[in-house]
Amino acid sequence: MRKKIAAANWKMNLRYEQGEVLLDRILGQHIDLANHQQVVFAVPFPYLGMAKSKVANRNNYTIAAQNCHDKASGAYTGEVSAEMIQSIGVGYVVLGHSERREYFHETNEMLASKIDLAISNGLTPIFCCGEALSIREADKQNSFVETQLKESLFHLDSENIAKLIIAYEPIWAIGTGKTATSTQAQDMHKHIRSVFAAKYGHEVANQISILYGGSVNGKNAEELFNQPDVDGGLVGGASLKVDEFSLIIKALR
Ligand code: PGA
Repeated sequence: MRKKIAAANWKMNLRYEQGEVLLDRILGQHIDLANHQQVVFAVPFPYLGMAKSKVANRNNYTIAAQNCHDKASGAYTGEVSAEMIQSIGVGYVVLGHSERREYFHETNEMLASKIDLAISNGLTPIFCCGEALSIREADKQNSFVETQLKESLFHLDSENIAKLIIAYEPIWAIGTGKTATSTQAQDMHKHIRSVFAAKYGHEVANQISILYGGSVNGKNAEELFNQPDVDGGLVGGASLKVDEFSLIIKALR
């Protein structure tokens, strides 16, 4: 069965001790999850070790880094490699978030190399894609997202593509309070799955979890997650609030 995932993206928020309290409170809710339901906390690099020890012994709860570099190692002061993330026992990495594409000029080609490094180090990438408002207004979102997927992912074989988690995050919905409707999300997720099916076949496409991101909150999560091709969410703002994120986790059920 395909995994259903609630992924928290803390971005560059919270002091260390605030992060500890937030994790303690969310984990303290003891929300029961089935085997195919999973919670991922994508936390800032300095908090990975702390977050990892908090979720140790908690089935279905895991930690992600928010980025890794597109080179394996070397003279890249201030950067963090996929191997470093793997070496501290963290198993997931968010790649290609629209904020990184916009502010750090990450291209589809750079992301292809990050994806390769993540996979060769045994990390599960949460690969983000999604269009800006102008593209949506021109009704070009399907071909835009398709190009993002093709240029960064289509060099992978079916064994590796099946390991990916995709997060569809329309840029106009991120941090704006303007969520895509459940129909808009379902339409795009179905399209994304069909793009994978055309290249890798239906069986492989059906294994890939496709998360929706963009102003997911405790109120809209259930309706979004109930769509047949929406396998959970990547959540920014609402993941910083105990009550909101707990509701989002519960919406997986
Ligand atoms: P948001 O962010 O939930 O605050 O809109 C989502 C994201 O950027 O991953």
